Amino acid sequence: MKILGIESSCDETAAAVVEDGRHVLSNVIATSLEEHKLYGGVVPEIASRRHAESISGVVSEALAQADCTLEDIDAIAVTYAPGLIGSLLVGVNFAKGLALSANKPLVPVHHLRGHIASNYIDSDVKPPFLCLVVSGGHSHIVAVSSYTELEVIGRTRDDAAGEALDKAGRSMKLPYPGGVSIDKISPQGNENAFVFPHPKMSTSIYDYSFSGLKTKVINTIHNAEQKGETIHTADLAASFQKAVVDCLLTNLELAARDFGYKKIVIAGGVSANSKLRAEAQKLCQKHGWELHIPQLKYCGDNGAMIGAQGYFEYLAGVRADASLNAYATMPIDKAEF
Ligand code: KG4
Ligand code: ZN
Repeated sequence: MKILGIESSCDETAAAVVEDGRHVLSNVIATSLEEHKLYGGVVPEIASRRHAESISGVVSEALAQADCTLEDIDAIAVTYAPGLIGSLLVGVNFAKGLALSANKPLVPVHHLRGHIASNYIDSDVKPPFLCLVVSGGHSHIVAVSSYTELEVIGRTRDDAAGEALDKAGRSMKLPYPGGVSIDKISPQGNENAFVFPHPKMSTSIYDYSFSGLKTKVINTIHNAEQKGETIHTADLAASFQKAVVDCLLTNLELAARDFGYKKIVIAGGVSANSKLRAEAQKLCQKHGWELHIPQLKYCGDNGAMIGAQGYFEYLAGVRADASLNAYATMPIDKAEF
């Protein structure tokens, strides 16, 4: 089966053709990132306008690169939640129009389920597994019992890991997105130069909190400025990155042990982080656990992951009609539309 996947939840306008949930025939991405860099973060209005301009060309290009016409496509999958509402609406409306005009089934896909599915690409990984989903907007530990049945075991109580990295990067005056800049600069720094506390949550031992760590970065910089001292940015970046990765993996290890998972999966934009990838490898080697992380090109937002998850949602009977709406927030385990 060939699924056309469409993604527009943030600043990437993306489309892909994916066969049987695992084979990518094309994967086209247009991004408005360079414009957002001027403002130090995504400007929703600009993102929506760029999606509207790019989506038609991106979808045509995805079909062309896959050597397909719309006739060859079995279903159209689209991200309908969560994300920036104006951005999501562009993809949802485009997909609805396409599905109606070509008389193809329309499959709504939750963005984070799509991130998880980036692990199915070029791989034979199958649920059940425990997944750490870390993006700009979310940090979840998810028990994935089947392709479409998921349960959140832990979540962030404040900032997402990617959001904390981006904000910390901004306070260090590093280029947006801070997560990418921190990853780049950290090898030049001493990750033990600054000590960050490991926040413990009263809500659940598997929950995260990153806003305290982020505030410590900001305070460290302000204090140094007030005293006229200079901070070695790479030291601060490396120490902060180490703290974030330690937190992410400590709770993941706890949850895997408590719930008896031996197959670990990581997904979301932050899964591109080299420290997280290396430390997760060490952790899983120590326990003899199987580890799956997406190829770097599928870590960030893309259409292939939506085409991959769209295939499994299609098999599970998930269908939408012309009344499909977009939603800024939506739980991953009770995805409704
Ligand atoms: O999944 P994603 O592309 O978009 C959302 O769904 O949010 O994730 C974007 C996040 C940003 O916070 C970005 O800084 C972070 O992923 N990110 C990274 C790296 N690459 C992207 N964080 C740390 N290290 C990276 N290499
Ligand atoms: Zn994403």
